[in-house]
Amino acid sequence: MTGYFIAFEGGEGAGKSTQEGLLAAHLAESGHVIVRTREPGGTPASEAIRSVVLNPEFTGLDSRAEALLFAAARGEHVARVIRPALERGDVVVCDRYIDSSVSYQGVGRELGIETIRDLSIWATQDCVPDLTIVLDVDPALGLSRVANPDRMEAEPIEFHRSVRQGFLTLAALDPSRYLVVDARQTIDEIAAEIRTRVDAELGARA
Ligand code: TYD
Repeated sequence: MTGYFIAFEGGEGAGKSTQEGLLAAHLAESGHVIVRTREPGGTPASEAIRSVVLNPEFTGLDSRAEALLFAAARGEHVARVIRPALERGDVVVCDRYIDSSVSYQGVGRELGIETIRDLSIWATQDCVPDLTIVLDVDPALGLSRVANPDRMEAEPIEFHRSVRQGFLTLAALDPSRYLVVDARQTIDEIAAEIRTRVDAELGARA
């Protein structure tokens, strides 16, 4: 595959969407074709799964069912959107991906890092990001920015603390494929840090 795959990860209220927009605009200006997408979602069937898995009416949904639904949405998303884009040579910017499953379901729900990672690797036939950008924020600050909590956001703060540790652990295991950014910085400072790293990675491939 000739494209480049960037995933944005982080806790609730870390400012991912703002930074994805800024990065996508910067890359488009540099002449790249960008596919901006999100998880769970990105295709009609995956968006339908999203409306189930985030629905506050389903509080207490079985953890394994939850993990399978996220993985199912991801499999469909990769098959229909992400893999074709990478095969065309586009740059994919995706809001959340496998590390969200590993951190929320594997660590937060205690289903196990390996199990959850293997499930998504199977669902996506081994489609992993070239670079994962983690916007790191204290959950107390991030959650204070959330207006109408969905089913995951409504989990207690301890859950979100363990999710944060999940992201940081994954990043520490493979620093060459991660950028961890302190999301307490200003929007411009965060954007500059992300741009510098992404430009370097894409430049090295050119
Ligand atoms: P979303 O509204 O996209 O969250 P945000 O705006 O914070 O990115 O909702 C996605 C929610 O689903 C978020 O709480 C994280 C959670 N999630 C998982 O638990 N597992 C996953 O695999 C994915 C992709 C998301």
